[in-house]
Amino acid sequence: MAKPKSRYICAACGSVTHRWQGQCADCSEWNTLAEEAPETVFSAKHDLSGGGRAIKFEALDAPGEKLVRRSTGLAEFDRALGGGLVPGSAVLMGGDPGIGKSTLLLQAAAAVALAGANAVYISGEEAAAQVRMRAERLGLGQAPILLAAATSVRDILTTLAGMPPPSLLVIDSIQTMHSDQIEGAPGTVSQVRASAFELIRYAKENGVALVLVGHVTKDGSIAGPRVLEHMVDVVMSFEGERSHQYRILRSIKNRFGPVDEIGVFAMEGQGLAEVGNPSMLFLSGRDQPVAGSAVFPAIEGTRPVLVEIQALIVRLASGATPRRAVVGWDSGRLAMLLAVLEARCGLSFSSAEVYLNVAGGYRLADPAADLAVAAALVSALADKPLPADAVWFGEVSLAGEIRPVAHGGIRLRESAKLGFARAFGPSDLPVKKDGTKFTPLALLPNLVDRIMGGA
Ligand code: TYD
Ligand code: MG
Repeated sequence: MAKPKSRYICAACGSVTHRWQGQCADCSEWNTLAEEAPETVFSAKHDLSGGGRAIKFEALDAPGEKLVRRSTGLAEFDRALGGGLVPGSAVLMGGDPGIGKSTLLLQAAAAVALAGANAVYISGEEAAAQVRMRAERLGLGQAPILLAAATSVRDILTTLAGMPPPSLLVIDSIQTMHSDQIEGAPGTVSQVRASAFELIRYAKENGVALVLVGHVTKDGSIAGPRVLEHMVDVVMSFEGERSHQYRILRSIKNRFGPVDEIGVFAMEGQGLAEVGNPSMLFLSGRDQPVAGSAVFPAIEGTRPVLVEIQALIVRLASGATPRRAVVGWDSGRLAMLLAVLEARCGLSFSSAEVYLNVAGGYRLADPAADLAVAAALVSALADKPLPADAVWFGEVSLAGEIRPVAHGGIRLRESAKLGFARAFGPSDLPVKKDGTKFTPLALLPNLVDRIMGGA
């Protein structure tokens, strides 16, 4: 039999090669390949003459168990989960260091415990005393959480096997867990996978809602193998700029609900406060209209959020390559929009640096932002402020058309509610336009004429 080949697995993306390299060929991360014991293959083909059992097929409409959900005690967390935690499911919570994952989960565990259910919080990163101090700071010192500092999966599962299964089990973080079933230091791909596998199996068998905290790499994906994302039922990401107060909890994958709902929190002196009505958060204080600022009525899931988009254009005297920097939006999308403005509207950005910022540390994913970004860019280029009481939304096509977007009605209603008297958007908006004076724009050149013409 041929000697089994060694395998190298990338800790960042999980790709497998048979040769060690300094840089992963798939994700281009450096020094992430680690050797893993080769798999033993007994035979490439199953012997069907014995050993297997017949499986039973089920009807889709067979009466099954109804999906029950348990509240986390935080309405914004429940909303992002699609209604609460599902017993016997696993949630992976990613986010930059210091964003507030531990705080959020400690608050949720405390709420579950105070509601009378069992909540276990296992910290692999901080000593119990540190977690206790945080709980005191949060005013949750009295919550009957079962708290432990541990990293051995065997110890954790042994302890859990000797007690009634808790409602909520928090593991902070999966990268610190260690399974002695497998070689390797905590945090390596095989360790993370093996530890997660055992913990998830325990959760499924015992109807426990499991939340695994996962670290995030530079490019924003959850560190450790991609397989972790496949193993869990829900992948959530906790986002925000650390320098800003607001935090957005988003689900990226959810086997039990929609992925477009968000939870909004504010990090305050006493932990995370829920923000039930976020529509005004991301508007900066606007006294004087300034050039390059446009308000965009975004939709997050079912909720409208008004966001301010800021553009700055700096003309370069020399022939140096101009910079394009974007915070809070897709840089590829900005490049496309600049190209459309050049090709369809005759504007020139080629000798200017372009900076784009979404206020309040917010990250925009809504495609309807195109028109507001274009308005901010044109306003900055012309150095003409946009009307302070206007909002802009619509998707821009490569041909320069302004295309219809979803939820036009909700966007207009929310804008009107917050005192914006004018809205500009796609021409075929099939809604009643009450409250706000709506001006349809068919093509990007219409927008440019409007702003350049000073209307
Ligand atoms: P933490 O939950 O430890 O982040 P993570 O687990 O994602 O790494 O949050 C740490 C940050 O939150 C820390 O920088 C301080 C801040 N913070 C507050 O502002 N107020 C608070 O009440 C708490 C507990 C933390
Ligand atoms: Mg933490």
